Amino acid sequence: IRKTLAVSALSAFAAAQTSTTPKLDATCADVVIFMARGNNAPYHDDRTTPFIDATCSKLTAEGKSCDYIDIQFDVTLGGDYCAQITEGAANGIKQVTAFNQKCPCSHIIVNGYSEGANVAGDVLGGPGGCSFVSTGIDNTSSAGKAIAAALLWGDVRHTENQPYNVLDGASKGPYPRAGADLANLNRYSSILRSYCAAGDPVCAGGKTVADHLNYFELYTDDASSWVVAKVDAAAPLCGASSSSSSVAA
Ligand SMILES: *[C@@H]1O[C@H](CO)[C@@H](O)[C@H](O)[C@H]1NC(C)=O
Repeated sequence: IRKTLAVSALSAFAAAQTSTTPKLDATCADVVIFMARGNNAPYHDDRTTPFIDATCSKLTAEGKSCDYIDIQFDVTLGGDYCAQITEGAANGIKQVTAFNQKCPCSHIIVNGYSEGANVAGDVLGGPGGCSFVSTGIDNTSSAGKAIAAALLWGDVRHTENQPYNVLDGASKGPYPRAGADLANLNRYSSILRSYCAAGDPVCAGGKTVADHLNYFELYTDDASSWVVAKVDAAAPLCGASSSSSSVAA
């Protein structure tokens, strides 16, 4: 049995080109996707990576450049969940802010799956852990204004009946955000999507584990098209005439 597990783990590794070390930097591409992984997942895992690839491929087809960054945090199975969220939220806020300082013209997409959705939501709205640490990235700041879209997938803190909820788990939320935390996240309502299926045990208290695992298989095409539309609709962050083709004669 040990041998079988080792072999299948190895082939999963080879197929997905996953990594134990996060990708912490990106070029000043037109669009940079930040990804917060799920519990017990490697960085650049085979669950979330197809979404990054699909989004970048659609943007590239429009002539836009695209890159990604991993939000760095420990996701060890059975570890201290609150400590992991605190680490992820603090790092995510720092990473997005630092990247925006380096590349102020790049549109940013914030994205998280499962435990990583808890982190991504906290990056946007706090509380930055299981108790209050931060209100998240101010939506009126330079970094906040650079965020063109954000996606939460199977969010641990999924909140019922929010305008950005997608799928049939929209009215569920066993461990919801509330009060100021929800209000802070909702500064980003107009650029947010939260995918939650009713059967998902994590975001909806459902009974179908597969519904928590198959978001990216089912909705990558839909979500990546939505992200591209949000990027296309976003106001340019730097002078619209930054491209060399528009230099006045
Ligand atoms: C920031 O959020 C507040 C509260 O939701 C909203 O009124 C304001 O328009 C937002 N500003 C920007 C630049 O998005």
